Amino acid sequence: MLSTPPTSPVGITSIIADVTPKQLDSYAKLIYEKIGVTISPQKTTLLSNRLRRRLRATGLATYDDYYKLLKKAAASDPEWDLFLQEVTTHETYLFRDQAHWDWLRDKFVPEIVAEQKAGHRQAQLRVWSAACSTGDEATTIACCLADRLPATPAWHVEIVGTDVGAGAVAQAKQGAFSERAMRLVPRAYRQRFFEKGTAGACASLKAPYREMLKFSTHNLLEPLKEKAFDLVVLKNVLIYFDAASKKRVLTQIKRVLRPGGYLITGAAEGVSDLVGDFESTQGWLHRWPKGK
Ligand SMILES: C[S@@+](CC[C@H](N)C(=O)[O-])C[C@H]1O[C@@H](n2cnc3c(N)ncnc32)[C@H](O)[C@@H]1O
Repeated sequence: MLSTPPTSPVGITSIIADVTPKQLDSYAKLIYEKIGVTISPQKTTLLSNRLRRRLRATGLATYDDYYKLLKKAAASDPEWDLFLQEVTTHETYLFRDQAHWDWLRDKFVPEIVAEQKAGHRQAQLRVWSAACSTGDEATTIACCLADRLPATPAWHVEIVGTDVGAGAVAQAKQGAFSERAMRLVPRAYRQRFFEKGTAGACASLKAPYREMLKFSTHNLLEPLKEKAFDLVVLKNVLIYFDAASKKRVLTQIKRVLRPGGYLITGAAEGVSDLVGDFESTQGWLHRWPKGK
C-alpha cells in the first residue's frame, strides 16, 4: 500500500529550492549590518540549514520572501530575534575561564576596596557583562563580588547584563541554570549563592544576589545608555566580528568605562591591535587610563 504524501510542514520543505550563493551572500550582509557578525565561507552550509528552518516555521516558500520579510520587519519584530537566534552562538556557562575570576577576586576587589578605604571612591561598583547570553557570566561576577566585598560598609553593586538576543535575555532574567552550566561552580559557592531550581533547572541564584543583576537587550554596535562602569566583561563574541565591527564595539566600550576602569576580553578575541589606547597587562586584560 502506498502511503499518503506528507503535507506541510514537511511538504513545504520539499518545495523549498536550494539557496543560491547570491542569496546566502545577501543574508550574510544582512547579519553583518545588523549585529556585526561575519559569516565565514565555512559556515554557509550551517546558514542555509538555519534559514531553511525559519522558512519552514514561517511557512514562506522562498529565501527571497523571507529576506524581504526581514528587510521590512522593525528591529523589535520577534522574527528578527528568532532569525538571529539561529545564526548566533549562545554557548556559555558559569566560571568560564578561571583566570578571569581569579583576577576579579584577588586583584580587582582588593584594589577597589583599598580605593574606597582611602576615600577615593564610594562603596559603589558598576559592571557590564556585554553579550552575556543567558546571564551565566554576569551571575559568576555576582558570586565573586558577593564573596569578596566586605560586609561593611554595604557596597552597592550593579551588574548590567546585555545581549542582542531577546530570548537569551529572558532566560537570563530567570536566574536558573542547568547542571551543565553549573559544572564549574565551586561547591562552597553552590551552597552559599544557589538554591534548588524549579521547572527543570538544576539551580537558581538566591534572591538577594539577583538584586545585583539587571538584564536588557542591547546591540553592541549601538551606544549603551548606561555609563561609568568600573569593569566591562566582553568575552567570546568579538571572535565573530571583523576588524571594522570590533573597532565600533571598542569605541562604545571606551565611552562607558570610568577612567581607570578595566575591560576583560576573551583570550582569542583578536583585539591586540585595536586596544592601543588601553594599558594592556595581559592579552585579555585592558585598563582605560586614569587620565582619559
Ligand atoms: C558565545 S556567547 C558568549 C556569552 C558570554 N559572554 C560568555 O563568554 O560565556 C555570544 C553572545 O553574543 C551575542 N551577540 C552577538 N552579536 C551581538 C551584538 N551585536 N550585540 C550584542 N550581543 C551580541 C549572542 O547573542 C550570544 O549570546
